[in-house]
Amino acid sequence: MKTVVYKNLTEEKVREIAKRVAAEAKAGSVMALTGGLGAGKTVFAKAVAEALGVTETVTSPTFTLIKEYASGRLPFYHFDVYRIEQPDETEMIGFQEYFFGRGVSVVEWADNIRAFIPGGALWIDIAFGGEPETRNVTVGSGDAE
Ligand SMILES: Nc1ncnc2c1ncn2[C@@H]1O[C@H](COP(=O)(O)OP(=O)(O)O)[C@@H](O)[C@H]1O
Ligand SMILES: [Mg+2]
Repeated sequence: MKTVVYKNLTEEKVREIAKRVAAEAKAGSVMALTGGLGAGKTVFAKAVAEALGVTETVTSPTFTLIKEYASGRLPFYHFDVYRIEQPDETEMIGFQEYFFGRGVSVVEWADNIRAFIPGGALWIDIAFGGEPETRNVTVGSGDAE
């Protein structure tokens, strides 16, 4: 898969990319998000939820690691693994059930559990752009090129 870089995107454009990715999502799709604090990972996740038709309010799962939403065209699994430093094997077996399950998984701080993210995942990095309030978004397979 070719890596695509979008530069200096407004928040609306970041949300548009998320919605485009979500439109292609199917059962077992995994979006692995990377980027620092305040980069826009939750913004991206919420736009995916919206595009899937999730009607519940999506809030950050920082303290629960995962939140599930059932109201969209596919189940939506929102992970935030910021607090995982050393992935626990047993916990990761639980995660696999979601990643390979019936829904769409979006994982914030996916680099913290890189070894446990399925090979077919879409990796999306969000970095601060060159202009104020903009972001650079890189979408690819996550393989070194
Ligand atoms: N171009 C942009 N893309 C995404 N977020 C932006 C952009 N410009 C400003 N923001 C703001 O940056 C913040 C990103 O926060 P959040 O999505 O919670 O980050 P993260 O989950 O990566 O820590 C939001 O307050 C959002 O309104
Ligand atoms: Mg977040």
